[in-house]
Amino acid sequence: MPRLGAEAKPPWQAVPLAVRREVEAALGAPVIRAARIWGGYGPSATFRLTLAGERRAFLKGVDGTSNSHMRRTLAQEERVYRDLGDLIAPWAPAFYGALRRDGWHVLLLEDLGPPSVPPWSVAKTRRAAAAYAEFHRATLHRPLPRWLPRRRVWGKLDHSWDQVATTPADLEGITGMAGDRAADAHAWITGALPQLRRAAAGLRRVRPPYALLHFDTRSDNIRLATGRHAGQTPLPSPPPPALRLFDWPFACAGPAEVDAAAFAQSIACEGGPAPERFMAWYAAGFPVREGVLDACVAAIAGYFANSAWRPSLPGLPRLRTVQRRQLRASLPWAARRLGLPPPSWLDAVPDGPPAPLQSSRDSSGGLPSGQAPYQTGPVASLRPPLH
Ligand SMILES: Nc1ncnc2c1ncn2[C@@H]1O[C@H](COP(=O)(O)OP(=O)(O)OP(=O)(O)O)[C@@H](O)[C@H]1O
Ligand SMILES: [Mg+2]
Repeated sequence: MPRLGAEAKPPWQAVPLAVRREVEAALGAPVIRAARIWGGYGPSATFRLTLAGERRAFLKGVDGTSNSHMRRTLAQEERVYRDLGDLIAPWAPAFYGALRRDGWHVLLLEDLGPPSVPPWSVAKTRRAAAAYAEFHRATLHRPLPRWLPRRRVWGKLDHSWDQVATTPADLEGITGMAGDRAADAHAWITGALPQLRRAAAGLRRVRPPYALLHFDTRSDNIRLATGRHAGQTPLPSPPPPALRLFDWPFACAGPAEVDAAAFAQSIACEGGPAPERFMAWYAAGFPVREGVLDACVAAIAGYFANSAWRPSLPGLPRLRTVQRRQLRASLPWAARRLGLPPPSWLDAVPDGPPAPLQSSRDSSGGLPSGQAPYQTGPVASLRPPLH
C-alpha cells in the first residue's frame, strides 16, 4: 500500500547489492521484505526488515549522499550501542551489529514494532513518566564513562535567551512568527527576558549527581508497552520495561531534569496531559530538583523560541513545524513556573509552511506530512549542536 513521507529517505533498491548481501550475512538470513519507515524528522535510511524464518530486524543507515553531520551522528550512535550496552539495556533495542561498505554505514537493531504513541492518554503518560524516572534512577549514582559528553551537549541550551536579548534580528525573528500580533509578542518577550535569562542561566550552576541522558526523547523515538503481557502467567522473565528508547547519538551525562522536561513538553504538544502532570508522575520515582527544573524548562523554551523562526534546513522539511509546536507547549510552561503572564501571542504562531510530500510504494510506517507526531524535534528536536 503506498504511503507518504516528507523526508527523502532512500528505497531498499537504492542500497547497493553488496551492502544488502552483507546485511543478510550479518543477520544470518535472507531479507524477504524491506519496508521504508518514516516517523522521525531526519532523512536517514530506515527499514523494517522481514527475514526468512519470520524474524525481523530494523536497519538504520547513512550513505555517500548523507551530510557529515548525519555520518558523525550515526558513528556516535554506534559507539553508544557498542560501549554503553550495559547501561542502556534493557531500554534500548538489542544491537545486532554494524557494517561499513560502499560509502554506506549501517546499524542493525531489534525491531521494536510500530508506533505506540500518540495519542497520549492519561494512563500512557503516567506509564511513560514512571518508566522514564526508572531509566534515570538506574544510572543516578553509577559511574559513567569519561568519554560520554556532559555539559558540552546540554550546556548549550542556556544561551538562547541571552542571544535573543543581544541580537535584535533574533528577537525580530521570534516576534515575526506571531504575524499580526508581533507587537504583543515583542512586549511579552522584552518584559519576560530578564526572568527567562536568569532562570536559564541556572543551568550553568547545575552540579552532579548526573544520570545517563537520552536527550532526544519524543514519541517518534520511543515505544511504550501496550500492556500485552497483562494476564500472561508466568510473565516473561524479566519483563521488558514499559518504555523502550531508540536513537541514541545524543546520549550524555547530565541533570535528569533536562531529559524529563524535554519529554514532558513534547507530550503536551502532541495533545497529551500538561507537563506539570507528567512531572508529578515522574517525581514519584525520581528526586527532581525544582530549581534545576526551572532552569531546564526556561532553557528549552528559549531553544525552541530561537530556532523555530529560522529558515528550513535542507533535508529536514518538518523540523521548524515541530519546533513551533514545541515552543507553544514549552514557553507557556516556563511562564507558569516563573510566574510570568501567559504568552497568548503564541496562538497567532502558525505551524509554518506545509512540508513537501514524497510518495513511496514500499513504506510501511510513518506519517503523512502534516500529521507529524506533534511538534518538532522535538527536538526534531532538541539538538542544540545541530539546528
Ligand atoms: N529499532 C526500531 N524499531 C522499530 N522502529 C524503529 C526503530 N528505530 C527507529 N524506528 C522507527 O523509524 C522511524 C525513523 O527512524 P529514526 O528515528 O532512526 O530516523 P529519522 O526519523 O530519520 O531520524 P530522527 O529521529 O533523527 O528524526 C522512527 O521514527 C521510528 O518510528
Ligand atoms: Mg528518530
